Amino acid sequence: MCGIFGCVCKKENVAPLIRKGLKRLEYRGYDSVGEATIKDGKLFIKKDAGKIDEVHKKCNLDDLPGRIGVGHTRWATHGAPSSINAHPQFDCSSPPRFAVVHNGIIDNFAELKKELEEKGHVFKSKTDTEVIAHLIEEHFVQKPQADARKTVAKTGISKLEEAVSKSLSQLDGSYALAAISTYEPDKIVCARNESPLVLGISENGQFFASDIPAFLPLTKNAIFMRNGELAVLKDDSFTIKNISDQRIILREPKLLDWTPEMAEKKGYTHFMLKEIHEQPEALRNTLRLQDKYLDLLTTFLDRAHEVIMVACGTSYHACLAASYMFSKVSYLATHPVIASEFSEQHSRSANIDSTILAVSQSGETADTLAAVETARQRAATILGLTNVVGSTLTRVSRVYIVQQSGPEIGVAATKTFTSQLSVLSQLAIQLAKKRGKISTEEIDLLEDKIQLIPEMVEQIIESQESKVSSLAKKLRDEKCFFFLGRGISVATALEARLKLMELAYVPSIAFPAGESKHGPISLIQEGFPVFFICPPGETRKTLIGNISEMKAREANIITVCEEGDEEIIQLSDDYIEVPRGLPEVLSPITYVVPLQIFAYRMATEKGYSPDMPRNLAKSVTVR
Ligand code: M6R
Repeated sequence: MCGIFGCVCKKENVAPLIRKGLKRLEYRGYDSVGEATIKDGKLFIKKDAGKIDEVHKKCNLDDLPGRIGVGHTRWATHGAPSSINAHPQFDCSSPPRFAVVHNGIIDNFAELKKELEEKGHVFKSKTDTEVIAHLIEEHFVQKPQADARKTVAKTGISKLEEAVSKSLSQLDGSYALAAISTYEPDKIVCARNESPLVLGISENGQFFASDIPAFLPLTKNAIFMRNGELAVLKDDSFTIKNISDQRIILREPKLLDWTPEMAEKKGYTHFMLKEIHEQPEALRNTLRLQDKYLDLLTTFLDRAHEVIMVACGTSYHACLAASYMFSKVSYLATHPVIASEFSEQHSRSANIDSTILAVSQSGETADTLAAVETARQRAATILGLTNVVGSTLTRVSRVYIVQQSGPEIGVAATKTFTSQLSVLSQLAIQLAKKRGKISTEEIDLLEDKIQLIPEMVEQIIESQESKVSSLAKKLRDEKCFFFLGRGISVATALEARLKLMELAYVPSIAFPAGESKHGPISLIQEGFPVFFICPPGETRKTLIGNISEMKAREANIITVCEEGDEEIIQLSDDYIEVPRGLPEVLSPITYVVPLQIFAYRMATEKGYSPDMPRNLAKSVTVR
């Protein structure tokens, strides 16, 4: 759960490129940062605890010299955020000869460290990564230059590459890593196992990164590395190999259609706000999905004996909403399961007849991938929904759909959530067509309505943003909120609560409104803020009863309801209106939007950074 980025270029002074690339990866972790470059046979290093801009201000990361370098933005797993624990990590030599950056976790680092210490290696940090630098040092057999050249000519493998390969064979765990050495200052050796790694290929040099935005302004040619692969990058070439047998892998770069601007803030104060505003466009993209993919995926769903949807956080909420959609529209029973719980719940029961629909924006969430792996080992069929082409989820899925939301940089999922919902509802509709359980009129109506959603979201942002902002001002000091809904709106309530908690640090509670009187209502006293999600439809009438119960106990009632729903408005102390006409089963896609804005504004009102909430990272690649 860190960002790595580096390059070897034809021109001098790559340090600013590395800093800017890391900045675009800061969503992956931001407790410390470091860079190392090589010039004239010497390693130059700067690293410290803090966000990239803070460290850069303190020690100018840009004046590291050289055409080759590696960088890292960290989210601590082993060892507190500190200058020593920041990456790059080094070998024993003084000055150091090897520098390593790493994203992932080395499970057996304690054993390796002990062995290395017995051989005389001296460790400085508390990180698991440092063992890699010492292992490389240990395996790097020094030979005279002429001999070394002969070895390369004979085997095609340089000593650095050989040392990295040998080191990798000793590692248990996950990694995307890159190593450079003053002994071979013309190359970067990088490798991947279970943590994301992408190469950027250009005429001016080669790049590696944890994610595409890092090098997007520099090149649009990308190669996605797979587990068990290693790459050697030089300023004019790259080679990819299988780590286990050194077999060369030929893989052409893919031309990306993401523009660098897509990864920038475009004038918004925060990425999150920009991404909230990008929702109409992202939703339009989901409506352009090719029918053949929806059709293929629903063929699997249709034949499935059981469908288990696995995901984490916001993606889990999308699955929860989808379970209502599949049940109501396609008459398919599905089980949404939080991915980290999957093994406990289903490791025995999943089998060849099970179908797993894994939903992950990043396609790299460790818990989701672990659930998928457990299911795969039990011969289940894996289907995927993700936002990242080439992500691990796309590779392990029998069939997958890419939701086309473009990069989401803010830690909080916003546009990727509504896009997931849009794709999942299209799947439900497509499946309904196959199963013939609902009438053609109903299907046509849903298909017509789904087309209107992007415009409705546009309207909500335009008409409700300032109202929601005033509401956040008014409620900024509240210590706890309830978010309540019935039916599919429970998913909306859970998502609204997650957004508020993760961004504004306000402990909040969300549950089906019908549960209030089974316990939680005892918390209610005068002025306690309770949000109700009130779309029209089957649940509305009973929900009005639930609102009245809360009102009778003098709660502060805030509703999200359909435009002009006077009955609800009359019961509300404050209300947010959403355009009319969307069936309840599609309502989470629009009803969640003002609640995203509310969480965003609550965070900014309180002076917190919504793009980088404390203790969180965008992509959770550790379990
Ligand atoms: O990339 P994924 O969709 O697999 O991520 C899953 C969760 O970590 C993620 O949805 C998280 O809950 C959100 N960032 C919260 O806003």
